[in-house]
Amino acid sequence: MELRDACAVVTGAGSGIGRAIALELAVSGMEVVCCGRRLDRLQETVAAIKQSEGMGMALAADVTDASQVQRLMDAIMKHRGTVDVLFNNAGSFNSIAGVHEVDVETWWDDVTVNLLGPLLLIRAILPHMMARDSGIIINMNGGRPVGGTGYACGKAGLMELTRILNDELRMQNSSILVFGAGPGLVRTEMTELQAESEAGRRWIPSTYESFQRGRLRRPEDVAQATVRLLQTATLADSGKSYGPDTDFGEWGT
Ligand SMILES: NC(=O)c1ccc[n+]([C@@H]2O[C@H](COP(=O)([O-])OP(=O)(O)OC[C@H]3O[C@@H](n4cnc5c(N)ncnc54)[C@H](OP(=O)(O)O)[C@@H]3O)[C@@H](O)[C@H]2O)c1
Repeated sequence: MELRDACAVVTGAGSGIGRAIALELAVSGMEVVCCGRRLDRLQETVAAIKQSEGMGMALAADVTDASQVQRLMDAIMKHRGTVDVLFNNAGSFNSIAGVHEVDVETWWDDVTVNLLGPLLLIRAILPHMMARDSGIIINMNGGRPVGGTGYACGKAGLMELTRILNDELRMQNSSILVFGAGPGLVRTEMTELQAESEAGRRWIPSTYESFQRGRLRRPEDVAQATVRLLQTATLADSGKSYGPDTDFGEWGT
């Protein structure tokens, strides 16, 4: 795909990996619509994009709220009239507990942010991509640790959605491509909660240990892998997963 002047929507672009992806796509010449709930964080990402002479805009939306996603879509269509790339990066991992003791509301919130959110964004944007028979959708995968069943169920569902969406698109002879992404372990707000909270240390000690040993990926690593993917991916690659280590491979985390 030619990235210059193309339009990307990145959810969760106000922090962590999503921020790095938004910056890298903008440096590659794309206009990036930065989405998330905290407008101030999105505006900070857009300010960083503009500092490097890139194009970006901040639009706040909760990805689990269908009417907010629709409003987001209306604003993008009014501004650009098209979306070339959708990166469903927003995720939630706040339920850290054994199944016997989970807080159901927090658990379900993890499922909905990781699964319903991407579905709502895809449902809003895909018809426009279909009308042009062009576009790339990327869904962010994640690990499946004990103590993280809400997150794991959401991500497992999202990867099934990715796989079947790809099958549906191929069945319709579409040119739209769909991928899963696996960033490896990156130090962000999400993983800091695992490393620093009592529940995180108890259930997912490997995060703290990896922090201690410095065994981490940089958010820029998956951002750069994303640019390579967008520039080179073909129909034959669609439905696969990619990450900083492998251009295409097993579903990574
Ligand atoms: N860090 C890792 O090691 C790692 C490993 C594997 C996969 N991942 C995945 O990478 C993605 C990014 O995570 P991260 O590590 O960069 O953590 P992060 O900094 O906590 O990012 C999560 C982002 O999701 C947004 N978000 C959460 N709920 C939302 C909602 N309802 N609506 C809209 N946006 C929402 C947050 O923004 P607001 O709070 O402003 O809404 C935030 O910007 C996630 O999908 C995560 O599962 C991360």
